Amino acid sequence: MLAGKHILLIIGGGIAAYKSLDLIRRLKERGVRVTPVLTQAGEAFVTPLSVSALAGVPVHQKLLDLTAEAEMGHIELSRAADLIVVAPATADLMAKMAGGLAGDLASTLLLATDKRVLLAPAMNVRMWTHAATQRNLSVLKGDGILFVGPNDGDMACGEFGPGRMAEPLEIVAAIDAALADGPLRGKHVLVTSGPTHEPIDPVRYIANRSSGAQGTAIAAALAALGAEVTFVTGPADVPPPPGVRVVRVETAQEMLEAVQAGLPADAAVFAAAVADWKVAQAQGHKIKKGSGGVPALALTENPDILATVAQMKTGRPGLVVGFAAETDDVLAHATAKRARKGCDWIVANDVSPATGIMGGAENAVTLITAEGAEDWPRMSKAEVAARLADRIAAALG
Ligand code: C5P
Repeated sequence: MLAGKHILLIIGGGIAAYKSLDLIRRLKERGVRVTPVLTQAGEAFVTPLSVSALAGVPVHQKLLDLTAEAEMGHIELSRAADLIVVAPATADLMAKMAGGLAGDLASTLLLATDKRVLLAPAMNVRMWTHAATQRNLSVLKGDGILFVGPNDGDMACGEFGPGRMAEPLEIVAAIDAALADGPLRGKHVLVTSGPTHEPIDPVRYIANRSSGAQGTAIAAALAALGAEVTFVTGPADVPPPPGVRVVRVETAQEMLEAVQAGLPADAAVFAAAVADWKVAQAQGHKIKKGSGGVPALALTENPDILATVAQMKTGRPGLVVGFAAETDDVLAHATAKRARKGCDWIVANDVSPATGIMGGAENAVTLITAEGAEDWPRMSKAEVAARLADRIAAALG
């Protein structure tokens, strides 16, 4: 429920700023109070008058605006809202945030706030893909900043690719997820999802058929109950949900490191289909067909992320949930797996091809806990996720 919430909306300089006017309308329609801030660059794209008229309150523009200071200091302004949204978030604003600069009103508010911050980046494709921006992005994600977009598409500058600001309704959905109030408010839950890719050489890898759909639905369901979610995902088919902290990885080793960096957490759900093996010696160059015959691929075991976390002596999440994708004797294998890995719950499912579960929209699971096994009826992956999130909320409550 967004009604009654208070958003501090910082409008940066970019052609996408016109969409922020629509964003204000969409938020107002939902009963949200919007306090707008317009950067100097933003003013080149939309007028303070349009912003104030739509928001129904004066727009803040300058750090040392004495009238505004008399009414409300910048520190107070940065903390009065439930959430700070930056749309469009320019490369410049991201760089300032990553570097901790505070030379103007927007960057000062972002540095001074104790509230969560959601960025909707918008910039030219090359600016977005530039190493500096990508570096800033990962710093900001590490700081817990939330992101929505950017999307791929035609850009005002005539290029095509990532850099288009998310549409106003996508931003509204991300705000909704970031503000979700529920039984998991104040709890941090870590979720792994998707397959992992284990390189053979620079162009080939070992993978599996996981789409990431179930893990993504679980992350969304947890966020909808108010959890702060760290979502560690391999290269999945489905996009990550809005309102969660996304950490993208390729290999099992990277996933383990991202999970360890993401702790502590109140609960952790390991929905990723991690490759059990990796190539012992991935080649730095493309392996050539040739007289040497068929190359032999020596495999070596990947770290078991679930078991590593479930068996942590200190700092173990209070609730550790694993998955067991089996093709036969599901209950016996999954029950043994729960004991072997040391996790609290196992969500077991039958992924034999006839079930259509792997890569499909539905799932039929059995929840195995210390109390025993519970069969859930076949339902959509979103429903499985919602039910699991409810159980997690009850367990952490
Ligand atoms: O051993 P198996 O792969 O069947 O175990 C499945 C569970 O263990 C899942 O929760 C999966 O996310 C997790 N897992 C892991 N790291 C691995 C292998 C599996 O976290 N290397």
